[in-house]
Amino acid sequence: MQAPAESPRYSKTLHHVPKAMSELLSSYSGIPEHDQVSHITKLRDAGYAQHPYPCMGTFRFLDLDLARHEAYKEHVLGPLCQPLTPGKPEPLFLDCGCCLGQELRKLAADGVPPHRLWASDIEPKFIELGFELFRDGDKLPRDHFLCPGNVFADRGDLTGDQLASLDDRVTILNISAVFHLFDLEEHRRIVDRCLRLLRKDTGAPVLVLGTHAGSRDVAGPQHLFRGKRHMCFHSGESWETLWREVCGQPQWKDKIAAVEVKAKMFARIRNEGPEANDIITLSDMDWEKDGNPLQMFQVWVTFKSDS
Ligand SMILES: C[S@@+](CC[C@H](N)C(=O)[O-])C[C@H]1O[C@@H](n2cnc3c(N)ncnc32)[C@H](O)[C@@H]1O
Repeated sequence: MQAPAESPRYSKTLHHVPKAMSELLSSYSGIPEHDQVSHITKLRDAGYAQHPYPCMGTFRFLDLDLARHEAYKEHVLGPLCQPLTPGKPEPLFLDCGCCLGQELRKLAADGVPPHRLWASDIEPKFIELGFELFRDGDKLPRDHFLCPGNVFADRGDLTGDQLASLDDRVTILNISAVFHLFDLEEHRRIVDRCLRLLRKDTGAPVLVLGTHAGSRDVAGPQHLFRGKRHMCFHSGESWETLWREVCGQPQWKDKIAAVEVKAKMFARIRNEGPEANDIITLSDMDWEKDGNPLQMFQVWVTFKSDS
């Protein structure tokens, strides 16, 4: 197949492997540095040929966004590495819409016991390519990669939706670069799906977190049409409104005691310079005019004890 033309959504060539990913591939997957660019590019090309998401086209999946999320150390890695305490529920992490599953591999390399780690996606090809990329079929249980796991599957639909096996079990739910693929009505359905997945009996807040495209409009959501998709990007305010609205719907309002929504807009520059091949996050960048704003979020949901 002929390579697509260079564009802001597709780069033919990978110049540097970001440092954190390079270390992960060396230490966790045993892939020497000098082989990494060709190994990644081959698998990226195979994935992009089938599903041309910009996160593949631009090699953005190499960025390990979760490990750079402000909640990572304290609220993700910390609880997941804690030994089991009698009387306390065991934490369970799900990366929903995991694509190649890079976040799960980073968590495993950072010491999280694999039985606490789960991932899901709608595309089996991505799961398969993830195992090829990380060469870890002997480290992570394949049956923890739920596929197809469709965020739009209805309640009780067990035929096409393996995700339902985690309903009421997830204590930390990562959902990154998924909402922004869809329109606002679909966002309401995804929020409902997240709430169904969350564990209700921990007696403490449970967490949904991630990073996705943010709105250029400070006050409201930004609606756009790209390819064949209607998409919606949020401001901090519209993101909170979305969660409060769904938590207030009849199926949830008597089950949820509290919801806390935190969202932070930021921008990211890829540094292509020779000595720094990492990613720079500039929280104070003028994202209203520069580049595409991103939104990093945490949503904490406390369920009522009898829900
Ligand atoms: C832009 S990628 C983001 C992947 C990954 N979370 C990341 O941040 O690198 C979006 C992912 O959502 C998955 N996806 C698309 N529609 C979905 C659906 N209805 N249910 C579950 N996953 C879906 C895609 O297959 C793809 O892996």
